Formats: sequence, C-alpha cells, structure tokens
Amino acid sequence: MRWRPDPGEGTVTAHMDWIVEDRGETEVWTIDGEPRRNSITRATLSRLVAELRRAASSPRLRCVVITGAGERAFCAGADLKERAGMTDGEVQQFLDDLRGALRAIEASPKVFLASINGAALGGGLELALACDLRVMSSAAEVGLPEVGLGIIPGGGGTQRLPRAVGVARAKDLVLTARRIGADEALAWGLVSRVAPPAQLLGEALALAELVARNAPVSLRQAKRAIEGGLHLSLDEALAYETQMYQDCLGTKDRREALQAFAEKRRPIFTGE
Ligand code: COA
Repeated sequence: MRWRPDPGEGTVTAHMDWIVEDRGETEVWTIDGEPRRNSITRATLSRLVAELRRAASSPRLRCVVITGAGERAFCAGADLKERAGMTDGEVQQFLDDLRGALRAIEASPKVFLASINGAALGGGLELALACDLRVMSSAAEVGLPEVGLGIIPGGGGTQRLPRAVGVARAKDLVLTARRIGADEALAWGLVSRVAPPAQLLGEALALAELVARNAPVSLRQAKRAIEGGLHLSLDEALAYETQMYQDCLGTKDRREALQAFAEKRRPIFTGE
C-alpha cells in the first residue's frame, strides 16, 4: 500500500509528486515517489517551486516539515533515470532550478525542517542542508555520492556542507562519496536530533510545534540574522543583527508578548 500521512490529522492535498498536509501553523510536505526513492524529477522540482511560493505568502503558516514517502529514502537525489535522457543544457537548467529552489527555502520567511526518514543522497542531502533544522531517523544514511558518478554536488553541497560541519568533515564526505549514519551525522552537527524510525515524524512535529508557537516576524528576522551574518565580520554581523531586530520593534506581537508576560499567560501571536 502506498504511504499516506496519518488520516484525520490535517487536510491532505496530493499534487504532482508531493503530498501536502495542512496542520494549521505547520505543514508536512512529503515527496511522493517511493518507487523511485523520492528522487527529484523535473516535475517534482517545479511543484516544489510552486509550493515554496505559496508558503512564503501564507499568513497562517509558520513551519514546513519536509520528508519522503516510505522508510527507505528521504530523497535519493536527482532522478538518474530521467537524467539519462536529458541533454547537457537540460541538466544545467535543472541545476539552476534546484539552486533557485534551495535558495528560496533559505530566503523564506517560514522555518523549514527536514525530517530525514531514510537515505538522503546527493540532491536529497542538499535539500536537507537548505532547511533550517534537520532531524534524522536512526536507520537513515546521508551522503554526497556525486564524485562516484562523474560529477560533483551541484545543488550547493560543496558550499553548504562545509558551512554546516567544517571543511575537514565536508571533504571526508564529498571526496570519498561515502555514506554516514545517524550517529556520525549527529556527532558532526549535521543534524540536531535523531529518533527511531517510528518516532521520527512525531519528533519532527514536536520540534515544529516549538518553532510555531513563536512570533512569526521574530522567526523570519532571526533566520535572516543568522543566515545573513554568517559571512560578515563580527562588527558587520552585529550591525546586521541590530538591523534585523529593528523590524520586530514596531510589531503588535512584541507588545502582546510583554502584556502576556505581565498577565502570566502564553502570548497569542498574529504575525503583525
Ligand atoms: N534516481 C532514479 N531512480 C532511483 C534513484 C535515483 N536517484 N535512486 C533509486 N532509484 C530507484 C532504483 O533504480 C530502483 O528502481 P527499480 O525498482 O526500477 O529498479 C528503486 O529506486 C529502488 O532502488 P533500490 O536501490 O532497490 O532501493 P533501496 O531501498 O535498496 O536503496 C537508495 C535506496 C536510495 C539507498 C539507493 O537506491 C541508492 O543508493 N540510490 C542512488 C542514489 C544516488 O546515487 N543519488 C545521487 C544522485 S546525484
């Protein structure tokens, strides 16, 4: 039987290669290509781009959990069968589109969480690396096998991986094309949490819930501050943080948080 999200938990919409489950402030996006191990076709990618556009302008949405159908793979990277029939120009276009989609995840005002339920290889790991948070099944493996396929990682793997785990570990993974398990990924800081397969989605949703209870403008600005400051000098980065902070100052949510504190209750954030 094909995998489906737990019925009754939220509104489920199946689009081209994706299942989108609306759980209110959180959505779960599942790559729906289990027979091909959720590898990314051109259709998968163009639907991802459309969903990212929709998500960015959704007022209610705060956090998106991305995962893969089944237990074998989160995403096995580019669809190598489709790729075999593509011209060099089409491959280049695919890579441009993939890079654009991964940048859109990073630039999104929403928080993205990769729930790595199975193998995340090549573009699959690159997709996870573009997300803000990563949780991983104890049975999953991650890797960048590209140099064994006559190419190099082309969706940002050579750039985001060293930024996430350092140059030595990134070269260890990229130049050997080996795959690592959850223990090593956790020790490297490539993922922040590991859970047994059956508990993974629950763990991801619990983390998403912790994110989603916070003020939306703060989430957007904190994400921008971290992303934008990473490659600046400390002085420039601190000035950038100040700039990002300022956008929170005039918000109703900041006032609401102060009032809620005084009234000893949880704040109700609206994103204004
Ligand atoms: N593109 C297209 N099809 C893929 C694929 C990919 N990236 N990865 C797996 N598949 C297909 C297999 O060809 C197979 O199809 P078939 O049933 O028609 O033979 C099916 O998915 C199942 O693959 P299989 O290897 O039997 O599954 P598994 O569960 O034992 O292993 C993986 C899953 C992901 C670990 C394994 O398939 C794998 O290593 N894939 C290659 C990933 C890769 O190199 N990606 C880099 C892209 S740059």
